[in-house]
Amino acid sequence: MGELDGRTALVTGGSRGIGRAVALRLAAEGALVAVHYGGSQEAAEETVALIAKGGGRAFAVQAGFGESGAVDRLFEQFAAGLADHGADGLDILVNNAGVHSVSSIAQLTEEELDRVLAVNVRTPIFVIQRALPLLRDGGRIINMGSAATRIANHLQIGYTVSKAALAALGPSLANELGRRRITVNTVEPGVVLTDMTAGWTGVPEAMAGLESITALGRIGEPEDVADVVGFLAGPQGRWVTGQTIDVSGGTYLGPIPAG
Ligand SMILES: NC(=O)c1ccc[n+]([C@@H]2O[C@H](COP(=O)([O-])OP(=O)(O)OC[C@H]3O[C@@H](n4cnc5c(N)ncnc54)[C@H](OP(=O)(O)O)[C@@H]3O)[C@@H](O)[C@H]2O)c1
Repeated sequence: MGELDGRTALVTGGSRGIGRAVALRLAAEGALVAVHYGGSQEAAEETVALIAKGGGRAFAVQAGFGESGAVDRLFEQFAAGLADHGADGLDILVNNAGVHSVSSIAQLTEEELDRVLAVNVRTPIFVIQRALPLLRDGGRIINMGSAATRIANHLQIGYTVSKAALAALGPSLANELGRRRITVNTVEPGVVLTDMTAGWTGVPEAMAGLESITALGRIGEPEDVADVVGFLAGPQGRWVTGQTIDVSGGTYLGPIPAG
């Protein structure tokens, strides 16, 4: 018997990368998981198939964040998917879908900033708004931030601002929802091996540089993050709320002693 048996979960951006690992993790604990995707239908179906292969239950839902009506479409499909599986309500919302933006302050355009804010901040806010009436007491909201808010990188200024804004939601929402035993937390991964980082994690010098400033001495895997989300989503995470949790293997904590 899994610790999330009888629970439902919605994982945005569950088609690939960290979101896929989160979807698999929650499903392995027994949750019925809605695997959201934007454009990667095949990848989302693959996530659903992997969950089914492991004996879990999942269905895919599509909505292009940033497009008009996306949140409505997401929740229409979510309701339909739950009904198909004889379920209702929501227990775990993971706002994971996100886009990167690699620009310095001089390079950033209004269009790029609008896009990154629309996908990484505006849509999650309205996803939460729409989710709240469905969210049962004792529920969980987990937002996917980034260690970029802690580790200065002038080449991702728009992305950093978007993730800081998402994390800023946590304490206020946690206070508002706490009496219903709903927790709200932000997970902040360091660099994780996914499509988002594939452009430079394939460069050995870049990997070596990152490993050299990471206490645990390696780059993150999606499962490293999914396990923390799984903890926060499960009964053992019940007493953690309004927090941002660094999940970077200790990247850039300070000088690492030689030897
Ligand atoms: N990888 C890292 O090093 C890292 C570090 C810190 C934080 N994060 C954060 O972790 C989250 C997942 O990152 P990842 O590395 O797994 O990224 P990824 O492999 O690029 O996957 C991104 C996911 O977000 C979805 N998505 C992107 N744009 C969307 C849009 N406009 N509408 C709907 N869905 C959209 C994608 O769905 P489709 O492909 O179906 O469109 C995909 O499922 C993001 O919020 C990211 O900022 C990642």
